[in-house]
Order: sequence, then C-alpha cells, then structure tokens
Amino acid sequence: MYRRPRRNRKSSAIRGMVEETRLSVKDFIFPMFLIEGQNQKVEVASMPGIFRYSLDLMIKEIESCLNLGIVAFDIFPAYPESKKDKYATESHNPETFYLKAIQKIKETFPEACIMTDVAMDPYSSDGHDGIVENGKILNDETLEILGKMTVAQAQAGADIIGPSDMMDGRVGYLREQLDDNGFTDVSIMSYTAKYASAFYGPFRDALDSAPKWGDKKTYQMDPANLHEALIEADLDTEEGADFLMVKPALAYLDVIRLLKENYNVPIAAYNVSGEYSMIKASAERGWLDGERAMLESLISIKRAGANVILSYFAKEFAELQKK
Ligand code: PBG
Repeated sequence: MYRRPRRNRKSSAIRGMVEETRLSVKDFIFPMFLIEGQNQKVEVASMPGIFRYSLDLMIKEIESCLNLGIVAFDIFPAYPESKKDKYATESHNPETFYLKAIQKIKETFPEACIMTDVAMDPYSSDGHDGIVENGKILNDETLEILGKMTVAQAQAGADIIGPSDMMDGRVGYLREQLDDNGFTDVSIMSYTAKYASAFYGPFRDALDSAPKWGDKKTYQMDPANLHEALIEADLDTEEGADFLMVKPALAYLDVIRLLKENYNVPIAAYNVSGEYSMIKASAERGWLDGERAMLESLISIKRAGANVILSYFAKEFAELQKK
C-alpha cells in the first residue's frame, strides 16, 4: 500500500501539524445579557452558566473576558414589560439604561469591540421585531424606528451595530442614517440569513422577548431555503454591510459555506442559545462530554467558513485555551 492516510494521524504532534482548522479567541464575539439595577447576576434558567448582569457586574465580567483574550462583546438588554410599547420607544430614549451602559462600557474599555442589537423585540409590547398593525409586521414604518435606535446606539459608542430584525432594505437605510449623523466609522454586521428557528427559545427566555402571538415567519427565513440566502446577501453587500451573518449556525453550515464561497466580506455565524443549551443539558445528564461537544461544534462552524463566531461558549473556550 503506497497511500496510508493513517500515517498522518499517528501521533498528536503530527495531527497538530496537519490540522486544517484552528480556533482562536480572536474568532469570537461573546453575547451577553444586561439588566437594570445593581449587583444583579441572575442565571438564565434554560442556559446554565449564562447570566443576566447589571452594569456593575457586567463590567467585571467583561474585564475577566478581556484578560482571557476575548475582545468583542454583543450586548442585549432585557427590559421589564412596563417599559415596552407598540413602537419600541424606549429603544432610542437617550436616558435608557441600555444606552447608558454601552457608553459606560466603552469608556471603561475603549479597546474592546462593542456590538449592539438593532430590532424592536426587547422593547416591543408585541414581542416582534417590527411594528405590528392588524396582525401584520410593517416593513417601511419599522425602518424609521430602527434608524433612531441605530443612531442612538452609535452615539452611545457602539463599534458594530447588528440589525437582527430581517426587515427589507434596513442595511442601506441604517448605513445612510449612520453616515448622515457622522458615524461613518460604525460598522454593520447584518443578520443576513436569519432563519425562523426553534433554537432561539432560550434567548427569548433570557430577554422575556417571545412574540405575544404568532411567529416570525413573515420576516425570518424558511429553514427549507438555501439559495434565498444569496438574495439577502446580494442586497446586504450592495447596501453596505461590513459582515454577513448566518443564524443559527449548526443546522445551517451549508448556508455559511455558500456565503463564504460567494462573497468577499467576512462571514459571521451565530451559534445561538438553543445550540448552547442542547449541549449543556445533555452534558448535565452525563449523556455526552460537554467540553468535546462544544469544541467539535465550534470547529465545525469555522470549518464551514465562518470568520467570526458569536457564541455563548466564548468564555468557556477561552478558559480552556488558558489551561
Ligand atoms: C432578536 C434576536 C434574537 C436572537 C438575537 N437577536 C431572537 C429572535 O429573533 O427571536 C437570538 C439569539 C439566540 O438565540 O441566541 N431580534
């Protein structure tokens, strides 16, 4: 036998040499949940090891992540029902705790990359990403609110804004709003191919942001569709997106690969809450090795073509690298 592929697997040293994909802490963005108040650290019931933090404790947590080499954070606010309304007004109130917190975090850690989320759901009494009228999600009217939210987040110091709403035309509209207000340096990481997925369940628990009725299928993509992602990606790149994101990640590795092969902007993948919880839950039961399952999922996302990975595992991964 001339060819024996097993020779290149015979020792850990050789396996290390021929490894095609390597993860680094630099690949990651760590999503975090912010709540109002002081000295609050509340575990998300459906996401063991993931907490909702008040600003003071979030600052400590970010500091400990920076010490581990994680430099990018995506911060999501959880608002009480009393602050929500039909038009997500609180989202662009300059005094709101989320915007104040972004400002404070950027002041404290100017070197960190702070990403914010643009969508109405955490602030909407309907729990939808857009304005609801007679059971329909209005597209163009929603853009105006997203625009105000975006400018307010840029004013607070966001480095990257992440439109996760899936309204048509939003990337171009938000780019224009940013530029017109002097924020030409603020980047847009577009949720390009965001699917109507069951894997967002634990995230909606974390933010109490589940839709009050219906689902998100008239704006988020159908899990059955691959090539439709090319339409979204064409539009997002034309409209000025700096990154294209695929979400969720694991059930959509083919979509990550398709976008990677067709576009020259960096591709991000969001390893979502349900993907995290599945591994945690089975590891807690002793049904699989949580650490290995984590590493295998993360490497598969990178192997598929993601340059950037948003993952609740980011800190755990970084801790493991330090060992
Ligand atoms: C909201 C938003 C969602 C997530 C990120 N931004 C939920 C949704 O669309 O319902 C999900 C993230 C996760 O599950 O980890 N626009």
